[in-house]
Amino acid sequence: MTIQEIYELAIKLGTEADPRGKEGVKKYLARQKKTYEELPAKKKEDFDLESLRNPYSDTRVLFGDLKKPVKKVMAGIDFDAGEVVLADRLNEKGENIDLLIAHHPAGGALSSLHEVMDIQVDLMASYGVPVNVAEGVLADRISEVRRKIGPANHYRSVDAARLLGMPFMCIHTVWDNMGWRFMADIFEKKDHETVGDVLDILRSIPEYKQAIKFKAGPSLYTGNERNRAGRVAVAEFTGGTEGAKEIYEKLSQAGVGTIISMHTSEEHREEAKKYHINLIIAGHMVSDSIGANLFLDELEKRGIIVIPASGLIRVKRLNKTKK
Ligand SMILES: [Fe+2]
Ligand SMILES: [Fe+2]
Repeated sequence: MTIQEIYELAIKLGTEADPRGKEGVKKYLARQKKTYEELPAKKKEDFDLESLRNPYSDTRVLFGDLKKPVKKVMAGIDFDAGEVVLADRLNEKGENIDLLIAHHPAGGALSSLHEVMDIQVDLMASYGVPVNVAEGVLADRISEVRRKIGPANHYRSVDAARLLGMPFMCIHTVWDNMGWRFMADIFEKKDHETVGDVLDILRSIPEYKQAIKFKAGPSLYTGNERNRAGRVAVAEFTGGTEGAKEIYEKLSQAGVGTIISMHTSEEHREEAKKYHINLIIAGHMVSDSIGANLFLDELEKRGIIVIPASGLIRVKRLNKTKK
């Protein structure tokens, strides 16, 4: 596969797993197109044309020739300059890594992270929150995220990759969508008696089993294992980053009893507690590993060798070969 083919596969698989559904993604792209067309000519020059066909601003090739064939990748969760140098060292030792794939975004894919948060509106609506309410509570949070990320050194790792001539891409929301779909299929399609029952299933998933050994397994932040689970929602697995804290009240009113989340802040935990939601924190690196693994399996099926790094708990689910 070439870097371009890996990138195209990411857009395809991310769309297939998207909580908005393929139709919802189409509508989002149509809104993007309308925004672009209505811009004055001067502003059109600065518009990211890629966002007219790729709905994920945080999934991009950051450096490298798109036509380059790829046989081996180093993939992980956070790639800073350190990981770039690590890959270069491994290549010196004869590894021949052709491409770095990070989950958390860098470069322009990081500074535009807030753009993917639109997914959360549809996701909340799917759990029964009126779409206007979901949109309303998320609007402030989206602009807050934009301002928060603004001052970061976005291009640090991309610059390191460029200086060492190491192709580098990030695949963020695509993997989170895949992880969300996997978890939603397990937890949202049937009823669970207690929160403890939900945790038991979670702990039996191989990535979480390993995370427990690493002392970073799932944990209950509010509620009790003996509590009735009510409706379970994998509400905080995709959509860029943590949403608005007001959403717990709205989800509780919409009938959600238990939320499975990757990570949370104290402020959010308090809100969840206030509205009697059982909040299961599944763990950050391990939960990001779920989506990563599903995607990396697809690369391996196509003959690519994967070197896991930077917090990725690699579990393979598919052994079939497909070239
Ligand atoms: Fe993630
Ligand atoms: Fe993450």
